Amino acid sequence: MNASTGRAARWLRRGAGVLLVLVLLAAAVVWSGLQLADRKMARRVDVDVQPVALRALTDTASIVRGQYLYASRGCVDCHGANGGGRTFIDDPNGLRVAGPQIAPGSASVTAAYRPEDWVRTIRHGVHPGGRPLMIMPSEDYNRFTDDDLAALVAHIRSMPSTQGTPAVVDLPLPVRALYGFGVIQDAAAKIDHTRPSAAPVPEGVSVAHGAYVANMCLGCHGAQLQGGKIPGGPPDWPPASRLAPGDGSVMARYADAESMMRLFKTGQRPDGTPVRVMPFESLREISETDVRALHLFLLQQQSPPKS
Ligand code: HEC
Ligand code: HEC
Repeated sequence: MNASTGRAARWLRRGAGVLLVLVLLAAAVVWSGLQLADRKMARRVDVDVQPVALRALTDTASIVRGQYLYASRGCVDCHGANGGGRTFIDDPNGLRVAGPQIAPGSASVTAAYRPEDWVRTIRHGVHPGGRPLMIMPSEDYNRFTDDDLAALVAHIRSMPSTQGTPAVVDLPLPVRALYGFGVIQDAAAKIDHTRPSAAPVPEGVSVAHGAYVANMCLGCHGAQLQGGKIPGGPPDWPPASRLAPGDGSVMARYADAESMMRLFKTGQRPDGTPVRVMPFESLREISETDVRALHLFLLQQQSPPKS
């Protein structure tokens, strides 16, 4: 062995030592992230749940309204049209998510629900026992008015009894570690639980009603509709687009309500290319009034009225 190969060998040994230390450090970081995650998932979220008067199962108007909300606000994507549960993400990298059966039936998670439990899960993202829900975007549903929440529950409770499937929440290690460190948050952590329930606004093509509809876009597009990477989403998901004004806002492509309606119905941009990830199965069910109001709201954000 000459002097230079000896030096190289020493460097290699030292390099391997440094690498080993780095690997051990990384493992320790992930491990503590997982410990934190377990603790967070098991924490109790105390919510002062405001009671909502549920509707009788014979109140057809409410059930029809509830059916519309269930079909258009995303519930279908994760719980299935019959409320029997449904797989939402099944990613080869280990991310698996399925919403549980919520329709009536002996195996349903809602079988023993008291009225306030519906409010706690849907509006606050908290299980009846006080643990946080992991996946369900309750931050999108926190602003449901009492009437709409009661209508939604009336529809779910009026579904035919079924033999459904339980929830699946399998998160890959990195996602759990990021959750442990608070980079990814559950809905209960994002919601201001002390906010009083939303005051109803009349349904119509108005900015105020559009803002109400836009609540269902917040979980993916961000609280300010600023867009960006969807926290906890699979790595191959594109970032959510910026809907708020500013650099890179996509709203220039959607100058009129018709173009947004076509996006929701077809899942394609005006140039015909497909848009990914968006829950079009639900979005295509949004009524014309709701889309027009939503569009009006998004446009007026682009050029807020001068005060
Ligand atoms: C992105 C998927 C997704 C959407 C959208 C969604 N849910 Fe869920 N939901 C879940 C998952 C997953 C669970 C299991 C708990 C969790 O999140 O860890 C759940 C749990 C529930 C539960 C039971 C909680 C329990 O265990 O006691 C109810 C009730 C419920 N959802 C109602 C709804 C309603 C109503 C809507 C529409 C307004 C909706 N969900 C939209 C994914 C979703
Ligand atoms: C489950 C997550 C999710 C929800 C819910 C969601 N979006 Fe998106 N949205 C995305 C993602 C991701 C993209 C980027 C898709 C791509 O680049 O292919 C996107 C893109 C868009 C675009 C740009 C399309 C284009 O021309 O490139 C618009 C407009 C849009 N969303 C509007 C909305 C509105 C309005 C709502 C609520 C009614 C909504 N989205 C709800 C995830 C979501």
